[in-house]
This record gives sequence, structure tokens and C-alpha cells, in this order.
Amino acid sequence: MAESLFLPQTADRRLVYDSLIPQIAALIDGEPDLIANLANISAALKEAFGFFWVGFYIKKENQLVLGPFQGPIACTRIAFDKGVCGAAYTRRETILVPDVEQFPGHIACSSASKSEVVVPVFDRAGTVRMVLDVDSDQLNDFSDVDVQHLERIAALITDLHYTAE
Ligand code: SME
Repeated sequence: MAESLFLPQTADRRLVYDSLIPQIAALIDGEPDLIANLANISAALKEAFGFFWVGFYIKKENQLVLGPFQGPIACTRIAFDKGVCGAAYTRRETILVPDVEQFPGHIACSSASKSEVVVPVFDRAGTVRMVLDVDSDQLNDFSDVDVQHLERIAALITDLHYTAE
């Protein structure tokens, strides 16, 4: 796999995701190291869309712990009952927050973060193993297009790497 992304120069996110997702699939195909793959997925999303913060919180024992990410430094640990990440983990569903100030319990790792989407990543047994957190410094920056395509990226992680232990 070439180590550069080829992305259409368009503001249409659907087109960018449609180009990006097969490239992510190729990038992680055959690479068994989970951390390496999560690092490259974070970088690919950051490069493609310039999001303020993109990264993973991985379930470890009884909390979510910061994993590979791109962007400013962030909270290291998140309890299951805290923040958008905790809510997505506990509810086992994607949460789109158009305005983080309107989300009760939102964790402000950075005051620059205005909207976000958090997607659970399941293993093949259906257990949530981590969440993918994407933050924007723009209000209302995410739509169903982001939700659908970020869920496809989460499914790639499930398919290739997160077999049940
Ligand atoms: N905003 C998240 C916390 C993580 S950071 O934004 C990177 C939340 O409320 O879950």
C-alpha cells in the first residue's frame, strides 16, 4: 500500500469518504497491529477532512483510555457515565452532537471543540471495544453522511482486527 492518500478536491464529504474508505481498508489490510492501524485511521481522517480532533478511546477494565489520535492533547481517561464518549459506549450507538454545550455531561478537553460525533467500535461478538471520536471547531459540522461513513470505518476495524478474545 502506497503511503499517501489520493483524495478528490471537493467540499462534498460523501465523495471524499467514498474515496477514503477503500484506501483505509487497503492500508490496514494484512497489518495485524491494532495500534498501528488506529494511528493511521486517525491520520487519514485528519488529512482528509482537517477535523479538529480525531481519535480513539479504548475500553480498558472499567473505563475508556485515550488511544491513537490526531489533534491537541486530550483527556486521558473517561468513565463510562461521562461525556459523549461514555454515552456512545454505554448506549452502544453513534451519538452526533451538533452543539457540545447542549450535551449534558460533555467533557470539554478543549474549549475549541464545538460539535462532535462518537461511534462505537464493536468486536465480532458484539462487544464495544472502543469508540471513534471526531471533533470539530465548527458548530453543527456533522450530518448523517459523517455518521454513515464513520460507521463503515468502524466496521472495517471490527472485520479485520477485533476478533473476540
Ligand atoms: N468530548 C469528549 C471527550 C473527548 S475529547 O473531546 C477528545 C466527550 O465528551 O466524550
